[in-house]
Amino acid sequence: MSALFREAFGDDEGITVTKASGRVNLIGEHTDYNDGYVMPVPLDMHVWVAGRSREDDLVRVYAADYGEWAEFDLKAMEYDVEHLWVNYPQGVAWALADSGHELLGADFAVSGDVPIGAGLSSSAALEVASVRMFRELSGLRLDPVEVAYTGKRAENAFVGVKSGIMDQFVASLGAPGRALFIDCRTDEYRCIPLPVGAQVIVVDTTVKRELASSAYNERRAQCEEGVRMLSENMDGVSALRDVSSEDLERLGASLPDLILRRCRHVVEENTRVLDAVKALETGDAARLGKLMGASHESLRTDYEVSSDELDALVDAAREIPGTLGARMTGAGFGGCTVNLVKEENVEFFSDRIKESYMKSTGLNAIVYRV
Ligand code: GLA
Repeated sequence: MSALFREAFGDDEGITVTKASGRVNLIGEHTDYNDGYVMPVPLDMHVWVAGRSREDDLVRVYAADYGEWAEFDLKAMEYDVEHLWVNYPQGVAWALADSGHELLGADFAVSGDVPIGAGLSSSAALEVASVRMFRELSGLRLDPVEVAYTGKRAENAFVGVKSGIMDQFVASLGAPGRALFIDCRTDEYRCIPLPVGAQVIVVDTTVKRELASSAYNERRAQCEEGVRMLSENMDGVSALRDVSSEDLERLGASLPDLILRRCRHVVEENTRVLDAVKALETGDAARLGKLMGASHESLRTDYEVSSDELDALVDAAREIPGTLGARMTGAGFGGCTVNLVKEENVEFFSDRIKESYMKSTGLNAIVYRV
C-alpha cells in the first residue's frame, strides 16, 4: 500500500494502513434485518486503505484499482453520482460526523481483492476499513461493534441501501478461518471453528446482481407486513425473530400466501442457524451440509431470491461426490454459492463444478477457497 500511496500522493511519510475483509455467509440468509441469526465467515480477501491526515477539511481518495480520483469536503458532504465508490468512505465520514465525532481531513489510497458486485461484501469491507482509518487518524474512541454500525449507517442512510448488520459486523469482528455466529437483535456473537475434514468453497456465477436492491427492499417490506399482520393475533411480536414455526402454523392461514412464504423462510432459517451452531460445535459437517441444502430450497421457493445460474451451480454441486452442502449466499439474484466439500474432494469439485456450469449456462464460474 505504501507504493500505491506514493504513486498517488508523491510520498508515503506518516501513513497508516487499515484493512477489512469480504465475507461469505454459511447460513442465515435474509434473517439479519428480521432481528435473527446469521453465520458468515470472513474471506481471505480484503479492502485496504492507506491514509494520512491533512490540515484542511478535504478528503481526497484515490481508487487504485480503477485509477480514479474523487474528493469530498467534510463540511459539505453530498452523495457523489459520478464516483459511486467514494460514497462508502464519504458515507462513513458523514455517519461519524453526524454522531458528533470531529474528523480531520485526509488523503486515502484504496485497493482491494474482494471481487466487486459478486455478493462478497466488498462495500462493507470498504466501509469498515474507512471507519478504522478515520478512527486512527482522528483519534476516535469506537469499539468494533460501533465500527460495524457506523458502516451500516453509511450504507442505509447515505448510500441508500437498507441492508442489515451482517456484512459490516463480520468485516469488523470476524476471525480468519472461523464462522461468526451473530444474534442480530442483541449483537451477541461467537467465533466457531469450521468443521475438520471439510472445506468451504465459494463459486461465483459471474452474473452481477441485477435489480438486487429494489427486490431486497421489497422483501424487507414483505417481512414487515407479515409482522404487522401476525401481531394482530399475537402479543410481543416486533420482528419475525419473535415468531416460531408453531405460531406460523397456527396463524398462517390469516396471511396472504406470498407473505406467509416470506415469513416461513425467515422463521425456519433462524431455526436452521441455531441447528447449524450445534452441528459445528459437535463437528457434524454432514448435518451442516443438509441445513445448507434446506436453506437453498427455502430461498428458491419461499423467498424467491435465487436465479437460474445460482440454481444451476447448486444442482451441479449436489451431483458431485464429496459435496456435503451447497446454497446461494448473500442477497441473491446473482453473485455466489457457498459449498461445503470434503477436503479430499476439493480439487475434483473445483474442476467438475466449472465443467457442469459451462455446460448448462455457457458461462465460466470462478472458484474461491476459504
Ligand atoms: C446483503 C445484506 C445483508 C443481508 C444479506 C442477506 O448481503 O447486506 O445485510 O441481509 O444480503 O442475508
